[in-house]
Amino acid sequence: MRALRGTGMARQLPSTVGGYYADPMTTPSPALSIALDETSDPPLRPLPPSVAQLLAELAAPPRLVAHLRAVHEVAAQLVEWAGGHCPELAVDREAVLFGAATHDIGKVLHPEELSGPGARHEEAGRELLLARGVPAALARFAGGHATWDAPGAGVEDLLVSLADKVWKNKRVPGLEDLVVAELARAGGRPVWEEFLALDTFLTGVGEDADRRLAWQAAHPVGARARGIRVNP
Ligand SMILES: [Fe+2]
Repeated sequence: MRALRGTGMARQLPSTVGGYYADPMTTPSPALSIALDETSDPPLRPLPPSVAQLLAELAAPPRLVAHLRAVHEVAAQLVEWAGGHCPELAVDREAVLFGAATHDIGKVLHPEELSGPGARHEEAGRELLLARGVPAALARFAGGHATWDAPGAGVEDLLVSLADKVWKNKRVPGLEDLVVAELARAGGRPVWEEFLALDTFLTGVGEDADRRLAWQAAHPVGARARGIRVNP
């Protein structure tokens, strides 16, 4: 049994979540542990406590929680870089972090899409979040993270989609071009200059991709968090 470490948030969680008894003192949820425990290889900041709690309530597969945490880390790095490089670009940081931390949550309902292709998790994830009371402005990332060129996609949508690619060092020129355009528009600098700046940053992010991939792969696809149903 792994102890809950790190933020200390787990100690503050209610003992009954979603009808499951999950006393963190005696039966730590694997989802909570994966979402919140300190890690050093690679260093990953913890998921937002509200998202960690939701993943525990849903008994999310360990691989999914690990993936969300890896993408959340890269999204946080992206937001920090954008804020320093182009302070003129208005970015809703909390929305990006929530979006990254929940973008694939629909795979709780479609776990086959954890190890194979499929898009059913997208709308399912959006509906799941809405049903849990998440505002539509935050639930949208689960539904739209794969369609970054859709009309109305904002810079927050682009950053979540970009994080979901570059965490594993996958480069998507069309997506990066959209981010470059946002940077150039906001900062009033040439597109080529923003292209070089983003490319340099993303190359650095990609250097840790192997460690993130290994960390995610170390978490099983199939096992779910265990809990005792007390309130069916
Ligand atoms: Fe993803």
